[in-house]
Amino acid sequence: MPFSLNASLRSGRSVLCALFLCFPCLSLVFASFTFGFVHQVHRVMESTLTARDRVGVQDFVLLENYTSEAAFIENLRRRFGEKLIYTYIGSVLVSVNPYKDLEIYSKAHMERYRGVSFYEISPHIYAVSDNTYRAMRTERRDQCILISGESGAGKTEASKKILQYYATTCPVTDHMSTIRDRLLQSNPVLEAFGNAKTLRNDNSSRFGKYMDVQFDFRGAPIGGHILNYLLEKSRVVHQNHGERNFHIFYQLLEGGEQDQLSKLGLERNAQKYHYLVKGCCPRVSSINDKSDWKTVRKALTVIGFHEEEVEDLLNIIASVLHLGNTQFGEGEDGETQITTESHLTYLSKLLGVDGPALREALTHKKLTAKGEEVSPLSFEQAVAARDALAKAVYGRAFTWLVAKINQSLAFKGSSSVIGLLDIYGFEVFQHNSFEQFCINYCNEKLQQLFIKLTLKSEQEEYEAEGITWEPVKYFDNKIICDLVEEKHKGFISILDEECLRPGEPSDISFLEKLEDTLGGHAHFVTHKLANGKTRKAVGREEFRLIHYAGEVNYTVNGELANQSVICQSDNQILSQCFHREEVTTQKRPETAATQFKNSLAKLIEILMSKEPSYVRCIKPNDAKQSGRFDEALVRHQVKYLGLMENLRVRRAGFAYRRRYEAFLQRYKSLCPGTWPNWQGRLADGVATLVQHLGYKAEEYKLGKTKIFIRFPKTLFTTEDALEARRPALALTLQTSWRGYRERAKYHRIRNAVIQSAWRGMKSRRKARRRRHAAEIIRKFIKGFIYRHYERCPENEYFLDHQRFSFLMTLVRNPPKSVLDKSWPVPPPSLTEASEHLCRLCMQNMMRAYCRRIQPEWKKQMEQKVVASQIFQDQKDSYPQSVPKLFVASRLGREFNLKVIQTLGNDKVKYGVAVTKYDRRGYKARPRQLLLTSSFAVLVAEAKLKQRIDYTALRSISVSSLTDGFMVLHVPSEDNKQKSDVVLQCDHVIEVVTKLATMADKKNKVNISQDSIKFAVARGKEAVIDFTSGPELKVAKGKKGHLLVTAPQLNPR
Ligand SMILES: Nc1ncnc2c1ncn2[C@@H]1O[C@H](COP(=O)(O)OP(=O)(O)OP(=O)(O)O)[C@@H](O)[C@H]1O
Ligand SMILES: [Mg+2]
Repeated sequence: MPFSLNASLRSGRSVLCALFLCFPCLSLVFASFTFGFVHQVHRVMESTLTARDRVGVQDFVLLENYTSEAAFIENLRRRFGEKLIYTYIGSVLVSVNPYKDLEIYSKAHMERYRGVSFYEISPHIYAVSDNTYRAMRTERRDQCILISGESGAGKTEASKKILQYYATTCPVTDHMSTIRDRLLQSNPVLEAFGNAKTLRNDNSSRFGKYMDVQFDFRGAPIGGHILNYLLEKSRVVHQNHGERNFHIFYQLLEGGEQDQLSKLGLERNAQKYHYLVKGCCPRVSSINDKSDWKTVRKALTVIGFHEEEVEDLLNIIASVLHLGNTQFGEGEDGETQITTESHLTYLSKLLGVDGPALREALTHKKLTAKGEEVSPLSFEQAVAARDALAKAVYGRAFTWLVAKINQSLAFKGSSSVIGLLDIYGFEVFQHNSFEQFCINYCNEKLQQLFIKLTLKSEQEEYEAEGITWEPVKYFDNKIICDLVEEKHKGFISILDEECLRPGEPSDISFLEKLEDTLGGHAHFVTHKLANGKTRKAVGREEFRLIHYAGEVNYTVNGELANQSVICQSDNQILSQCFHREEVTTQKRPETAATQFKNSLAKLIEILMSKEPSYVRCIKPNDAKQSGRFDEALVRHQVKYLGLMENLRVRRAGFAYRRRYEAFLQRYKSLCPGTWPNWQGRLADGVATLVQHLGYKAEEYKLGKTKIFIRFPKTLFTTEDALEARRPALALTLQTSWRGYRERAKYHRIRNAVIQSAWRGMKSRRKARRRRHAAEIIRKFIKGFIYRHYERCPENEYFLDHQRFSFLMTLVRNPPKSVLDKSWPVPPPSLTEASEHLCRLCMQNMMRAYCRRIQPEWKKQMEQKVVASQIFQDQKDSYPQSVPKLFVASRLGREFNLKVIQTLGNDKVKYGVAVTKYDRRGYKARPRQLLLTSSFAVLVAEAKLKQRIDYTALRSISVSSLTDGFMVLHVPSEDNKQKSDVVLQCDHVIEVVTKLATMADKKNKVNISQDSIKFAVARGKEAVIDFTSGPELKVAKGKKGHLLVTAPQLNPR
């Protein structure tokens, strides 16, 4: 639904407020000067300029009367008169179109601006380019350059100059040179297809372009990407008087080879084509279509278009021309029909579609989405459908072209980016179309972005940092943006609703709806809503939007195109551009307005993510004449671009600001207090630094997190100081580095020396040890040979060693206990000493042993000594008895109480179970033998059977075998005694020892070999015979002897 629009910029109302205001670009060049410093800075900044350069002021901030618009324009005029087309407002470049080649874009000029500070040299587009490039590299932040101005002001030229600057000055490799060429060559191609001669500009861009140039880490261009915005497609079918269609049509007809034209069914005469003569000026003196065609053809090859692709593209161009010449007439039945068959034939061939289908598409419209039902079109409708098809085909081919160029420029890796925005400026014609609405809306959005990015944020920043600041009033055009794009209530929403609702969209109902919803809005007027004078200026079918840059009237016209036929095209480009789903889908597509709104939102997002620089282009006259300066026209642009507000903000604010850490990091080397590192608070560090640098109070302010510097001069001086300090810093760094390197080298050498000394010492020690070892081995061997000789030099070492090792063996391994009889074998020379030592050792051990003996143990020992005195080597069972300890009593609790009582005061010192053999008959009877201090008793149960006083005990006899027999000899004459007692006991050694000790009869123990005689009665004797056998046996033998067989345990 395009608009024809009546526009009016006549209004003197100053709605052109606050444009492109100051912006905290990272560049070093924000200017805002107070009165007193103007001259001084002026002098500094212009000291390097030539006399001609010094005409007027090269930066408007230096204007004394900076609030005077007349002074502003006079400055522009004077400079323009001297062909000085560039002037700054701070970092913003104002460029006036000279309309002639000024020869200021040579390679030498580029070199002049390369790496040079912004203000050190006269203003130039190259200075902006270089500054942006350096900012991208040093700050590592993506940049964008926003070029604005009205049609013909020189935006596209400026963007081309920037691109050329990068192509020439940036480092390139072979591969990169291809990308560079493609980047450069994309311009003539896009201009051929997207630019046209208009009344305002012979090479007017009829599409918006945002181009990203990608740079690698070395700063070389490595890729690019182009975003295109809404091509003015209406130009394909209609041009205002004095205007042309897109250049490519004329270029093809003028420059194309004859064969090629014949193939396309074209004649070399633009007059023959209706679409090319609507503006009645197919030829323009300033344009050479023939040579431009050559340039375009070459550029297509450089970019990498295949021949088939070029052919398909030309087929589309030619088909648009044929469409334009397709005429309609009335058939016999009054139906609309095509009257120019030859064009239809070419069309079907060039578009690669079926002839009858194309015919139907041009004369009928589909009623359902799937196109099964169609209805014939009226003559006017058929013409409109034809034009719509031509526009659609051309528009999509253009989009395809951009995509194809993007493919050839694509780079996937990481890169830094500089974006160039060359978008159509605010535009008003006598008759305008929907595209103008979009163009103006686009400018509205950009204006909003600039306000957001610059003025608003600038003022907010001062507030946040607590910096005193005089607010500058500005007009915020958000209200207009909202009017256009607000959800549900905005202009685009209402337009969408009207387009997408079922049935035919009607201009009247749309206008009514607009009036209902937007009526009363300060920036929206219709004939009905307006009053007085305004009402006359707004037609009944029009509405007026009051844009930030002027008032524009719009009217509504419908349009329809049957695209389904193109979806079947054999033409590769068209088949890629038109998709079947578009015509078959039931879903309503997004309207052009919504699409444009969304693409703009994306563009704003892209721009917001980058650091912007601005170029403001001004057109000096409408006649495209060089040297003519139309003051009224320029004043209008100065107002409309808001340059005066721009200047006011620059003068009121601070030129430069930096976060404390960044500022300190960059300049800390200039102050001994902050170099190499500042340890305290950042703000204090910055204060110390600026004090050292001699900043005056009026030159800077310290905010909460940033330092604000009022004059660029201050910063330049600091930069110069840094520049001057750099060699010293480099020297310091070099010195430190060399010092470090030398120290490292010295350490390496020192370590090497120490290591080699150490290794030498180790080797010497090892050699010494080896020598020594060899010597010893030699001595040892010799000594071994002479070991039996008297001590002599040959065996001296060996003998000493023997002695030494004997003594060391003894030291390390002495006998562990008194029972340990082991003793190392001494060498012959130490035999005597060894015996001595052995004895001493034994004595020592024994002494130690004795000292350790407890009383009970001593008693035990004493008994054992007695036992050994009696039995050692006398009785066979003695050795087994040695390790068995003697006990105090063998009876324990078995003592009979009655017996104890009977014994009275005589305490039982020992008791043991024994077997008593009768003297006659040898009957064995169990008894207990109890020993007291003066007698022994035999007890049978509770009865005392026999008492033997120790005084009466004559002797004790035992055998030498292992049996347990003992005979206690008592005098038979003594009536009290019952003669000798024969007893057998398992603990005979213990019993005899105790008894002999208590009775003091140690010498009265007889140990008999074979037999023991004992008295049976007075004068009567019996004998016990002992023999060795396998086991203990007691029996009565012949002759009345008691025969005892003792087990042979330990034969001697
Ligand atoms: N720096 C310049 N030096 C010489 N001529 C220039 C310069 N800038 C612009 N021109 C002339 O002005 C013409 C219009 O410039 P340009 O095409 O860049 O305008 P524009 O701002 O892009 O307009 P539009 O919005 O219509 O595209 C150029 O074709 C060229 O002849
Ligand atoms: Mg342009």
